[in-house]
Amino acid sequence: MSRVKQHYEEVLSDVYSWVYGGFEINIQRNIEFFKKYNLSPQGSGIAIDLGAGCGFQSIPLAKAGYTVTAIDFDAKLLRELKKNSGDLEIKTIQGDLIDFDKELNSGVELFVCMTDTILHLESKEKVISLFSKVFTALESGGKFIITFRDLTYELRDADRILPVRSDEDTIFTCFLEYEPETVKVYDIVYRKLDEEWKLSKSFYRKLRLPEAWISEHLSQCGFSKIASTTENGFITIVASI
Ligand SMILES: C[S@@+](CC[C@H](N)C(=O)[O-])C[C@H]1O[C@@H](n2cnc3c(N)ncnc32)[C@H](O)[C@@H]1O
Repeated sequence: MSRVKQHYEEVLSDVYSWVYGGFEINIQRNIEFFKKYNLSPQGSGIAIDLGAGCGFQSIPLAKAGYTVTAIDFDAKLLRELKKNSGDLEIKTIQGDLIDFDKELNSGVELFVCMTDTILHLESKEKVISLFSKVFTALESGGKFIITFRDLTYELRDADRILPVRSDEDTIFTCFLEYEPETVKVYDIVYRKLDEEWKLSKSFYRKLRLPEAWISEHLSQCGFSKIASTTENGFITIVASI
């Protein structure tokens, strides 16, 4: 099993939605995000959510009228997505997002790969391979949206300890260890169970990808229009054919 998959299974998926502030606020945030980028079905209406998690993007896209396929390798998060999607028709696939083309390899209007998912891939080669597959699968006028954090700069010393979120039952802290091409992300979670604090801890790696590297490789894969914005260290890239 990949380190990332194991990390989500053992530590992160149980608290993922809570870590990001809860379900509703993230659905609303992404409804606004997709509105800001004027996204609504114009062609096939098919959207693929790569690394969908518990549905923070899949659900807003389905509400906007897209026919959504949500791919993720974490079963718990996909179950949460199904539970939260109510009457919306969202197809879920549990598997590696790099293999999305086993299900659909043409006529896609929109791909999204959001909130650092791209940085979870094992290598730059895998990222380039994904770009190429996405380009091939998109219909004319189709779009690919990627959002991720700029991890190219390094926090130092105690600044690498990040108090992510806490309440009376859970305390989530993150520690970052920088390597030349990757960051080792340690998640440390204390949860109160039967009046006792129980610790879960594990790490996974994120790629340190500069925005310019991503844009350059999207262009090399054939994308002709690539727009990038950065807000508070968070990068959004919209690439179109
Ligand atoms: C940071 S979360 C983002 C989830 C969602 N897009 C969001 O914005 O909340 C990354 C997700 O990608 C999934 N993931 C990471 N690498 C994957 C891979 N190679 N194949 C399938 N899912 C993957 C994880 O299980 C996790 O749900």
